[in-house]
Amino acid sequence: MNYKIALIPGDGIGPEIVREAKKVLDRVCEKYGHSFTYSEVLLGGASIDVHGVPLTQEAIDTAKACDAVLMGSIGGDAKTSPWYKLEPSKRPEAGLLAIRKALNLFANLRPAYLYNELRKACPLRDEIIGDGFDMIIVRELTGGLYFGERKTIEENGVKTAIDTLSYNENEIRRIAIKAFEIARKRRSKVTSVDKANVLDSSRLWRKVVEDVAKDYPDVTLEHMLVDNCAMQLVRDPKQFDVILTENMFGDILSDEASMVTGSIGMLSSASLNETKFGLYEPSHGSAPDIAGQDKANPIATILSAAMMLRYSLDLDKEADAVEDAVQKVLTLGYRTGDIMSEGCKLVGTKEMGDLVTDQI
Ligand code: IPM
Ligand code: MG
Repeated sequence: MNYKIALIPGDGIGPEIVREAKKVLDRVCEKYGHSFTYSEVLLGGASIDVHGVPLTQEAIDTAKACDAVLMGSIGGDAKTSPWYKLEPSKRPEAGLLAIRKALNLFANLRPAYLYNELRKACPLRDEIIGDGFDMIIVRELTGGLYFGERKTIEENGVKTAIDTLSYNENEIRRIAIKAFEIARKRRSKVTSVDKANVLDSSRLWRKVVEDVAKDYPDVTLEHMLVDNCAMQLVRDPKQFDVILTENMFGDILSDEASMVTGSIGMLSSASLNETKFGLYEPSHGSAPDIAGQDKANPIATILSAAMMLRYSLDLDKEADAVEDAVQKVLTLGYRTGDIMSEGCKLVGTKEMGDLVTDQI
């Protein structure tokens, strides 16, 4: 089959990790008889440098014309990069938020899984790790604080900044349905995270989630306050299967969940709309401090490519092959710097990509 893929290398380590993921995909094509046609799309700083804005309509149209989008990362060093002298709505991050909105990517799936081989990279104590853990964060991605009205006003010489957090029941329902559907294919447990002891938006969230749960009697639902969840993630991460939460809580908790797996450099993500279309990107950022030095871990992007094969292209066998290849390379003891531990072999970005490719 032929598929059309939009590639967004982006900024910082983005281009080098996307290059390795593409190498892996090319190998998948060769082995399984597919062909991928790639269209490169500029986003973030890379787009600002060429077009003066972090996202163009042309970029959105190109992405929409494809079957899926594979992305690296966007953004630079806020202290030194000229991109951060621009007004906030013209900065790299605004481009990422805008493309999520334009493509209606409301469901962000962020798996956090502890590879047995990486136990030593996990910052938690052995008795907490136990047999390991395997959870997925289902984060609402196109609503809440990141998309509400915001402004800064000044009255009598005093500045006030206002950000608005709003959710309607339809936005909550569709993401809740996604979480329950995913839970059914896993261990059938949803932990819905909110701040219902304070926020109205959270109280509505809880009510709608409970309503959706009635259609899934086979799935256990529990509610957890976000501050407690932040604690439980390091106290006993095994308890979680599917964590369902709104945009900002999901942003924060997914970084925390990734850290307890040992490295944010391992974690993939998928952002989906109501159809099969999706944007796939590592959960980590653009790491400008190590960009271009062949130090970045390309595995999160490679695993994001695997998610793309599975969710957007229905190529399950191929997705399994990529995930197995990553597993084998770890078993063989190869590590990038971020997941390095004693007795393992340190490799760079390119070599890690080659090793995974060779296992397919
Ligand atoms: C993420 C990032 C983005 C977000 C930023 C770069 C806008 O932190 O994907 O988690 O907050 O969604
Ligand atoms: Mg984040």
